[in-house]
Amino acid sequence: MRDIQHCDRETEETVSAMASQQSRLAGNDPRGTAEDGSKWRLADWSTAATVRAVARRRLADKDRGLPFSPELVPLMSHALVRSRDDAVQRMILGQKLHSYFRFTTHLELKAVLPACTMIGLKESAIRTTDEFAHDGFKIAVDEAHHAYCAEDMKQQLTAITTIRPYRERPPAFLRMLAGERDALDGKFKQLALLAFTCVSETLITSSLANVPADERVIRAIRDVIMDHARDEAKHHGYFSCFMETMWAQFTVEERDVVGPLFAKFIGTFLSHDAEAESDWLEAAGFSGADRTRIVAESYEAIDLRKIHRQASKPTVALMNRFGMLDHPATADALAAAGLVE
Ligand SMILES: [Fe+2]
Ligand SMILES: [Fe+2]
Repeated sequence: MRDIQHCDRETEETVSAMASQQSRLAGNDPRGTAEDGSKWRLADWSTAATVRAVARRRLADKDRGLPFSPELVPLMSHALVRSRDDAVQRMILGQKLHSYFRFTTHLELKAVLPACTMIGLKESAIRTTDEFAHDGFKIAVDEAHHAYCAEDMKQQLTAITTIRPYRERPPAFLRMLAGERDALDGKFKQLALLAFTCVSETLITSSLANVPADERVIRAIRDVIMDHARDEAKHHGYFSCFMETMWAQFTVEERDVVGPLFAKFIGTFLSHDAEAESDWLEAAGFSGADRTRIVAESYEAIDLRKIHRQASKPTVALMNRFGMLDHPATADALAAAGLVE
């Protein structure tokens, strides 16, 4: 019996066939594996990874671009914000950038890197090949580098502008993730972290996808986000493979407990952080009453379910491919969250 299946599919038909084969194998032997002969791709990591290939990104004093794309910050469309001058709007975008990078740091160091450490050291409940485990160290290095680059860019921004991070709280997703894990016993705490990591590593956030192409944004900021996106494209393949392996090896009980968490974690990862947004407005001088109003009203016309459905498409497609939607509780959770149509 092999301990890891190999990933990346040639065609959807192959995918479906493999998924159903995998389901059958898993049904007979919950720790069984699927086989398809293809692989994740990190062979060129030593020369292609950002940490090895790209020099430090530096902010230039003369660069007067925006800190972030305004369209990705719903508060920026509110009439009370639009009526204020450039300095106020720039402060909100700057605070958004600080929050975005700090979110990245927490995500990498407190969720993804611990998951990669478990995989690399073969301390996770999911069995993998030695090669797959070894590649976990590459991703661990990437994630530490992404966290460093995020903090480095925050520090550079603080050094050359008046935009200093204002009351940085731990991001909301961390509290939600901790709450979910606290409610679980024993091995399920670990499996929940692995499932959260599979979600965060396989979906595509609007910031990662759109900021690099926005020429209004400061060049070094776009570059560092683009560097991150390039690495994450590789990680997507690795964690797709891990997700498939994990699901194939799960027992019925593990599927019942962890499967529905995928829908929950998509929401956890993508939800906006209302407390942080209020902090950005406070930094820009808005009163408490205005902050509450702006945060609430900025989301009234936005269909968050639709946005989450769009962003999570890659993850949900993989779940479908791996037979996870054949599991009723997992499929029901996705439907209840509005993540499948
Ligand atoms: Fe990353
Ligand atoms: Fe990653």
